[in-house]
Amino acid sequence: MKGLILSGGTGSRLRPLTYTGAKQLIPICNKPILYYAVESLVESGVTDIGVIVGSNSSQEIMRSLGDGSRFGAKVSYIHQDKPLGLAHAVKISEEFMSGEPFVMFLGDNLLRDGVAAFVEAFRASSPDALVLLSEVPEPQHFGVVELVDGRVVRLVEKPKVPPSSLALVGAYLFQPCIFRAVKEIEPSTRGELEITDAIQWLVDHGYQVEPHLVTGWWKDTGRPSDVLDANRLMIETIESSMQGTVDATSEVIGRVQIGVGSQILRSTLRGPLVIGDHVTIEDSYVGPYTSISDGVTIRKTEIENSIILADSHVESAYRLDACLVGKRVAIVPSQARPKAIHLVLGDDSRCEF
Ligand code: DAU
Repeated sequence: MKGLILSGGTGSRLRPLTYTGAKQLIPICNKPILYYAVESLVESGVTDIGVIVGSNSSQEIMRSLGDGSRFGAKVSYIHQDKPLGLAHAVKISEEFMSGEPFVMFLGDNLLRDGVAAFVEAFRASSPDALVLLSEVPEPQHFGVVELVDGRVVRLVEKPKVPPSSLALVGAYLFQPCIFRAVKEIEPSTRGELEITDAIQWLVDHGYQVEPHLVTGWWKDTGRPSDVLDANRLMIETIESSMQGTVDATSEVIGRVQIGVGSQILRSTLRGPLVIGDHVTIEDSYVGPYTSISDGVTIRKTEIENSIILADSHVESAYRLDACLVGKRVAIVPSQARPKAIHLVLGDDSRCEF
């Protein structure tokens, strides 16, 4: 059995971060989202993995995953010139799959309990396809499945009026018959070959599509609020670890990870939270559900429930909450008169005061 991870696409809902980096490499608990997908496949015994990469971010993804050996996997790259849809990504993977069944994982999805149980179920009963479902409050943002007597009868991509509250989770298991389906379907009105249409084709042609409900949490990290939610959920699972130094005047409460060479001075840390390597935190409060990447400096700031990416400098008179801050960003006080807020923001940035 092989694996297919989809790591192309444009990440338009995560601009401006995705102007300069792949959305699948945004860290959750200081680890790129994509790594969780690779680890989840390896844990299921699937180690021969094809990764779909788009034209914008292929180099960055290839640099980051390499040949996959450090995950115990063999990673090959499949180039998709344009993000023409999930089913298009399947279509261009046919040669890589060489007639084997496969598990497809969307590189921006996180599943708390991974996919091992579903891979096992698929191996045991060998249906033509196995889809994972989760009850969601806003099904219109997802592919939605209608079940009758526990059987899949209809799948619709982001319907205005959802037929149920069961969303398709971004992990699917397929037998090679899916390649027939993706060749038969037509692009949707948004111009993409939809995986929902391909699975509907299987249903309509008498193939067996087995639905499974996921039990642990699942998160699609499409929007900034989803990234913060995913970070919050994942950070609940961390254990404390201390590789840096905390001075005698600082206080550490709850589960906190502190990386190599990091220094905490005259500050309060209230976990759960994750601090990377070579981070300096001075005269600050860092609260729950915060992930701080390597090389960040935080000075005279109160912050919680946020993600700060590498090498940024934060010194804010305002308390920061639910912030997603990119790499090498400076949030600093200004002595200049007139006293005002000075902003240099990239396209599609958003500040709330
Ligand atoms: O997260 C679950 C949802 O994922 C499902 O409920 C939907 O049925 C499914 O269509 C998909 O919807 P999204 O709108 O979230 O898909 P998105 O465009 O974000 O793409 C998902 C991943 O696949 C992401 O890592 C980018 C990658 N991708 C996407 C497209 C369209 C590709 O590699 N190539 C593509 O052509």
